[in-house]
Amino acid sequence: MKKSKLIIDKHFIIDKVDRHIYGSFVEQLGRAVYEGIYQPDSPFANELGLREDVMKLVSELNVPIVRYPGGNFVSGFKWEDSIGPKDQRPYRVEEAWSTIESNQFGLNEFIEWCNKANTEPMMAVNLGTRGVSDAKNILEYCNFKGGTYWSDLRKKHGYENPHDIKVWCLGNEMDGDWQIGSKTAYEYGRIANETAKVMKMIDPDLQLVACGSSGRGMPTFGEWEMKVLELSYDNVDFISLHSYYGNQANDTADFLANTMDMDDYISSVIAICDAVKAKKKSKKQIKLSFDEWNVWYHTLESDEKLEKWIHAPHRLEDIYNFEDALLVGSMMITLLKHCDRIKMACLAQLVNVIAPIMTSDTGAWRQTIFYPFFYTSNYANGTVLNTLVKSPKYDSKNYTDVPYLDAVVVQNDEKDEVVLLAVNKDLEEDMEVTCDMRQFEGYDVKKHVVLYHSDLKAVNTEEKPNNVVPALISGASIDQGIFNVVLKKHSWNVVILGKV
Ligand code: AHR
Repeated sequence: MKKSKLIIDKHFIIDKVDRHIYGSFVEQLGRAVYEGIYQPDSPFANELGLREDVMKLVSELNVPIVRYPGGNFVSGFKWEDSIGPKDQRPYRVEEAWSTIESNQFGLNEFIEWCNKANTEPMMAVNLGTRGVSDAKNILEYCNFKGGTYWSDLRKKHGYENPHDIKVWCLGNEMDGDWQIGSKTAYEYGRIANETAKVMKMIDPDLQLVACGSSGRGMPTFGEWEMKVLELSYDNVDFISLHSYYGNQANDTADFLANTMDMDDYISSVIAICDAVKAKKKSKKQIKLSFDEWNVWYHTLESDEKLEKWIHAPHRLEDIYNFEDALLVGSMMITLLKHCDRIKMACLAQLVNVIAPIMTSDTGAWRQTIFYPFFYTSNYANGTVLNTLVKSPKYDSKNYTDVPYLDAVVVQNDEKDEVVLLAVNKDLEEDMEVTCDMRQFEGYDVKKHVVLYHSDLKAVNTEEKPNNVVPALISGASIDQGIFNVVLKKHSWNVVILGKV
């Protein structure tokens, strides 16, 4: 059995966790909305057509903010199509995903859904085919108190009080050549700045997210962030990061090592933000919004063959296996380790489309990746401790010196708890982990939950929804202040320590 050691000091902190890092994303894509969160003819729907069974699972996940309506979708979106009487809303060709959009679910329905699901909207404006003026109009419709054309139209539609949406994305993945209305860094930086400027004239308290590169692998990466921030620094608050990983090569050790890439990506974006800050001699610090992250690859090939121009097709419906859940758990640890700069993040996405929650006409169920998200969102709250991980390492196809143990410790003062999140990436051996906890007098092990399956490719389906589920495990202890736990080979773990 390999051995690892964690070194923590309760005074040596990274930062407080901003709960917005446990956000998610609902795009007007595939069955995320239709048959996902909205299905008026479903036996699970409430009077608004919103699926209550899905809402229950969303509230289990404890998601504080949800990004909408895209994604690639937003770059062709005419938001006015999605408001007012439903029978007057137009059907449109939706070019981003080659579908037909009925607009039966739109802006106001999303706000209703957020209110019921106890979450906050993170609205994106279209900077692909549209620009400053439309961003101003949608903001006026949503947030202005009344007495103007757009705010009075909102009232006429039945919403007397402003929606008061505080967080807005300035477009989506604008450097991607697949994006409708994609732009150069200069073109985007200018329009993002002007849009942000006008939006903040209306409401200076808004939090605005500028698009970073669509991914670290983009040829534009780095230069893009630099130029966009140079042009918009004073008016934007966040820069976005997007990352999806896959295991097409069926090389699990390498797949699980992808958090090395995610970690470098985050550090690089922080460096660029701070370089622009230094150049501008600014006192302001740009925050990071990791507003698309997940595993995505199972359906990439099969989706190519989907029929085009239909409404709500089964698109991007990745069925996640157990090893995907290990990587998702590890990605959440990576986000937490950077919680001093990452103040917003969205698991992409929430329902049916590359999602932790799946639906059919007869029910909703939890995918494997549901569980690490559930536990991290519900238990990893408070202050992240700078967690020194002394672990044996391995080399994989694309990475060197990958620690077998990925771990972070979060101190929750409110509950008087310390929470350890840990992934043992060793595919062959269990691992013994120790940590000196003498600073935490009177603490003992309250609970150790493990997500483990002998088959890395095991999945949950509607027929077998409980194939991969977490289990309580005993054996962890604190003896004379020294914490000791054995982590099963290829497992995700949460250990809750506190006064028992
Ligand atoms: O989440 C699916 C898609 O991935 C989004 O629409 C886009 O922003 C990204 O490329």
